[in-house]
Amino acid sequence: MILVIGGRSKIGSALVADLLDRGEQVRVLVRAAEADSSGGLGGSEGLGGSVGSGGAVAETVVGDLADEGSLVAAMDGVEKVFLLSSPHPDAVRWHRNAIDAARRSEVGLLVRSSILGADRGSPADFINAHTECDRYLEKSGLPFVIVRPNLFLQNIPESTIPSIGADGAFYGDAGEARISMVDTGDVAAVAAVVLTEPGHAGAGYDVTGPEALSYADVAAQLAESLGRPVSYVDVPDDAVRQALLGAGLTAWFADALIGLYQDYRRSGRDGYAAQVTGTIADLTGRPPRSLADLLAGTAPL
Ligand SMILES: NC(=O)c1ccc[n+]([C@@H]2O[C@H](COP(=O)([O-])OP(=O)(O)OC[C@H]3O[C@@H](n4cnc5c(N)ncnc54)[C@H](OP(=O)(O)O)[C@@H]3O)[C@@H](O)[C@H]2O)c1
Repeated sequence: MILVIGGRSKIGSALVADLLDRGEQVRVLVRAAEADSSGGLGGSEGLGGSVGSGGAVAETVVGDLADEGSLVAAMDGVEKVFLLSSPHPDAVRWHRNAIDAARRSEVGLLVRSSILGADRGSPADFINAHTECDRYLEKSGLPFVIVRPNLFLQNIPESTIPSIGADGAFYGDAGEARISMVDTGDVAAVAAVVLTEPGHAGAGYDVTGPEALSYADVAAQLAESLGRPVSYVDVPDDAVRQALLGAGLTAWFADALIGLYQDYRRSGRDGYAAQVTGTIADLTGRPPRSLADLLAGTAPL
């Protein structure tokens, strides 16, 4: 039995479907409020991607990363755990709870979804929190794998495209930094391999897309895909902060995002975020999805 924590995230839902397709028994941790609002437990309703292509369904268990006792209960009979959560001011405590629960439950492998750059030390809070969690896991004595994905390609259709104004411009504070953005389905495929195939315990994998793109490069691809002029305009952090707050993000989230992009800028055009690794092809046997692939499969917006 594999317990997936964060099973309704983009990576998590694709992972659950992949594991079911591989014939694994899967349990998804859901928070009580979400379980109630999704029409009850035990079925696929409300769990979107939790159904394999053959019709197999994941079971669900109620729990919360803030409550270690609920995690120990959720890990009853579980051999392996996949751990991911939303970015949150309490995320380090949450992930420590899950690692402690896995140790108490004598879980055989914990795979943690981290972020590219977490192994190098960074002033950005988003990355720092992952570094702290990864170090805690490495010292826990549990067999582990750490998966470090770069920025998600899915941010482009979900956030960038809707932000394009009537003048064709979208705004950001990435400067000239190039980022090898990665498809979340590809990250899930890597996680499925390390969870189900032997020989990965103790490894850390940097997971990137096939090409490093600046936001000017993204604008050029969007213009091509949307069939109209699109341009990227770099603006000061304060302007981005106001826009993020205006879009309803909390001050903590807005500042964490700005810190991440400051880190991209600081690392430069060919910095750490521009690296292209062979992890996806090496582990899954297929090439990583590009922005062009994603845009070709995305309904026009
Ligand atoms: N966005 C990027 O470009 C990017 C790039 C690299 C790495 N990352 C990292 O990827 C991770 C996921 O980010 P995301 O934006 O994809 O997340 P997300 O869509 O917000 O999903 C997060 C998942 O965490 C679960 N969760 C949140 N709080 C929980 C709690 N207290 N107890 C149990 N489960 C909880 C959510 O459950 P519910 O479904 O019940 O809400 C959801 O399934 C983060 O660690 C982030 O730092 C993000």
